[in-house]
Amino acid sequence: MNPLEERFEILIDGLADRGYGIVDHFLSPEETAALARILHEKRRQGEFKPAGIGNQQVTVQTGIRGDSILWLAEEYAAPEERAFLSSIRHFIDYLNRTCYLNLRDAEFHYAHYPAGTFYQRHLDRFRTDSRRRLSVICYLNDDWQPADGGQLLLYLPQENGTEQALEVLPVGGRLVCFESARLEHEVLPAGRDRISLTGWLRTA
Ligand code: OGA
Ligand code: MN
Repeated sequence: MNPLEERFEILIDGLADRGYGIVDHFLSPEETAALARILHEKRRQGEFKPAGIGNQQVTVQTGIRGDSILWLAEEYAAPEERAFLSSIRHFIDYLNRTCYLNLRDAEFHYAHYPAGTFYQRHLDRFRTDSRRRLSVICYLNDDWQPADGGQLLLYLPQENGTEQALEVLPVGGRLVCFESARLEHEVLPAGRDRISLTGWLRTA
C-alpha cells in the first residue's frame, strides 16, 4: 500500500465506523502552501464570487453563508491543482474498488471565508441534484490555532436519538469527508481568513 492509499484507508475506516473520515497531511506543507498561493493570486485577480444557495447558485445570502468561491477547471489547472485532482481521482477509483461505490467524477471549488463569516447548519446534497455522494474538504490554512475559530461542526446522530456536534479545526493539509446526504454541518465564524478546497464526489 502506498502512502496515498494509507490515507484513503484512514478516511474509509472513519466513514464506515463513524460516518465521517478525517486525515492529516493529506497534502504536504509545500502542496498546501502552493495551493494557498494560487488561491490568493486568483482572489487578487477578482476571480472569486460570493457563493450562492441552491444548485442554480442564484441567491447570495450572506446571512446563511459568507464565503466566496472559485470552481476548479481541470483544463486550465496549474500543476499543483492537477496533482490535487489526480489524488482525488485515485480516491474515487479506490472507493469504487474497495467499497463498491459507483462514483464517476468530482467537482471542486476554492472557498474563502473572510474573517467574521460563517456557513449556517446545512446539508450538502441539493434536492434537485442527487449525484453528490461524498463531501470532501481540504484545508489550506497556515498555522491555524483553536483561538482562530472557524471550526467545522459535524452533527453526528447518536444511537439514542440525540446528536453530538464534533468540532474540526481547519488545519492546513487536513482532509475531511462525509456522506453529503446524511451529515448536517456548519462553519463557525473565524477570526481570520479561512481557506479550503471543497468538493463533491459524484455518482453517475
Ligand atoms: C460547504 C461546507 C465546510 C468547511 O462548503 O458546503 O460545508 O469546513 N464547508 O469549509
Ligand atoms: Mn457543506
